[in-house]
Amino acid sequence: MEILSEKLEKKSYRDGDVRIKIFGSSYKKSDILNEALNQARVEETGLAIPHLLEVKMIEGQWAIVTEFIEGETLDKLMEKSPEKISVYMEQFVKLQNEVLSKRAPLLNRLKDKMNRKINESGLNATIRYDLHTRLNSMREHSKVCHGDFNPSNIIVTPEDKMYIVDWSHATQGNASADAARTYLLFKLKKQDDLAELYLNEFCKSNDIAKQYVREWMPIVAASQLVKGNESEKEFLLRWVDVVDYD
Ligand SMILES: Nc1ncnc2c1ncn2[C@@H]1O[C@H](COP(=O)(O)OP(=O)(O)O)[C@@H](O)[C@H]1O
Ligand SMILES: [Mg+2]
Repeated sequence: MEILSEKLEKKSYRDGDVRIKIFGSSYKKSDILNEALNQARVEETGLAIPHLLEVKMIEGQWAIVTEFIEGETLDKLMEKSPEKISVYMEQFVKLQNEVLSKRAPLLNRLKDKMNRKINESGLNATIRYDLHTRLNSMREHSKVCHGDFNPSNIIVTPEDKMYIVDWSHATQGNASADAARTYLLFKLKKQDDLAELYLNEFCKSNDIAKQYVREWMPIVAASQLVKGNESEKEFLLRWVDVVDYD
């Protein structure tokens, strides 16, 4: 079996025409089933995503088995051909817009998830109150949100078809929240130029003001704090604190 990726508690393998993602013991059974269920629900929208085949135990560890998609991730392609970056970014945003055009009424709600994350953020009660207020004043939307939409979760096939993987964070909610999360992910990787290019493209293609996306920044930054990554903390706290942007 060929190793596709290896993180501390998550490994991905290829076995013929299937891809096996194996989870370490720090993952709760319910998280793994949630990821598989999200994937099954999003499959029903008709988006190009690898089909779920099995959820099972392999040598005492939970595993999700899906179709293997031949190709290269978009982040690798962006690295390889920087001269094509604006074309890639356009395709990336177009794909995200396609996800956001879908509905999956049984997915968890983004607002519920964000309210929970704010509670778990470790921020003080005053800031949490502000964040809950901000979140609850946002309009109700029910668009499919990937929740971790970044170029490493997109596989481009040799025929230039794009598949979206990694549905563990999917919810239904506001497009701007999903865009704020993507923007934050570029910033956390210190890809400031890509972050701005992305935000421009997303707002232009949806004919919306950047403020719509920026309004979500304190909330998505607070939710990212829950991951407890020390190296991100200072940066995220700055985003949480910035209340007036304009
Ligand atoms: N169905 C698939 N077919 C081929 N490669 C895949 C597939 N799903 C994921 N990968 C590869 O494995 C990597 C990690 O998978 P992903 O589900 O994103 O896990 P993680 O939660 O570790 O980010 C992806 O970035 C991609 O390169
Ligand atoms: Mg991933």
